[in-house]
Amino acid sequence: MTQDTEAPRAAVIGWPVAHSLSPAIHGYWLRHYGLAGSYGKLAVPPDELPTTLANLRGLGYVGANVTIPHKTAALKAADSVTDVARRIGAVNTLYYEGERLVGDNSDAAGFIENLKRHAPSWVAESGTAAVLGAGGAARAVIVALLDAGAPDLLLLNRTHARAEDLAAAFGPKVRIGDWSRRASALRDVVLLVNTTALGMVGQPPLALELADLPATAVVNDIVYKPLETGLLKAARARGNPVVDGLGMLLYQARPGFAHWFGRLPEVTQDLRAEVLKAMA
Ligand SMILES: NC(=O)c1ccc[n+]([C@@H]2O[C@H](COP(=O)([O-])OP(=O)(O)OC[C@H]3O[C@@H](n4cnc5c(N)ncnc54)[C@H](OP(=O)(O)O)[C@@H]3O)[C@@H](O)[C@H]2O)c1
Repeated sequence: MTQDTEAPRAAVIGWPVAHSLSPAIHGYWLRHYGLAGSYGKLAVPPDELPTTLANLRGLGYVGANVTIPHKTAALKAADSVTDVARRIGAVNTLYYEGERLVGDNSDAAGFIENLKRHAPSWVAESGTAAVLGAGGAARAVIVALLDAGAPDLLLLNRTHARAEDLAAAFGPKVRIGDWSRRASALRDVVLLVNTTALGMVGQPPLALELADLPATAVVNDIVYKPLETGLLKAARARGNPVVDGLGMLLYQARPGFAHWFGRLPEVTQDLRAEVLKAMA
């Protein structure tokens, strides 16, 4: 059993987990703030997740991040879950409240904080936000946009049934567009967010004609590898304000760090540079 006097340890749990950038983020903050503690990687196969989480404190951890493929399973394995994690349907951050392991999800907060910081001209209430994709990341983005006050979300996804599931889960402010007519659907939007895997290294490009997109619409690609995706490049070239996906990753890490190490850290240019180095 870990003693209270020991420096707190946290980790990212995944399978595989070697690719995770979370150790670079938390390691930077621990050094920057001069805090005692450590943050590592824990490779856990899916069938071992429940026992690992049931015994997380016994293994010496004050909490953890969970990544692919454990985000949904962690929802069931935690002793309790926050409202936002339940609405998103996934957990990415675990911490203790007394003896209870709490499952939270910081992706929605990370998304919206990054968007507000880098696109101060965007006003949530001002109009339609188009969301490309209906996977796990889309759920967090939808929750974030609804909570921020977006009046109308247009969901565009290759697999219609998956978009229907999300629209049913999130109510009348979420409507579905036709993936094959996605370009013309952008005519009146104030925000375009790509949450599909398209445009990521190793994935096909996102084929999307931007001619109908208003010039003032903010374009946010949550894919961060590469940092400047084809979508962001095309949007930037025609003058749209653009927001890259790395900031979401950095901002979503803040609440976990605060729970485990006792300080709410800042997202800075230095941190970005450190994480970009780890990505190279
Ligand atoms: N910046 C951040 O902090 C952050 C956080 C989370 C995720 N992400 C990024 O977000 C992306 C999606 O992650 P996820 O967890 O949501 O993945 P996911 O649950 O697997 O969903 C993938 C999405 O991409 C779509 N898609 C994949 N291949 C496609 C294709 N060939 N044509 C059209 N659509 C395609 C899927 O559409 P179908 O439903 O039709 O299959 C689905 O909507 C990844 O690149 C991930 O790295 C970034």
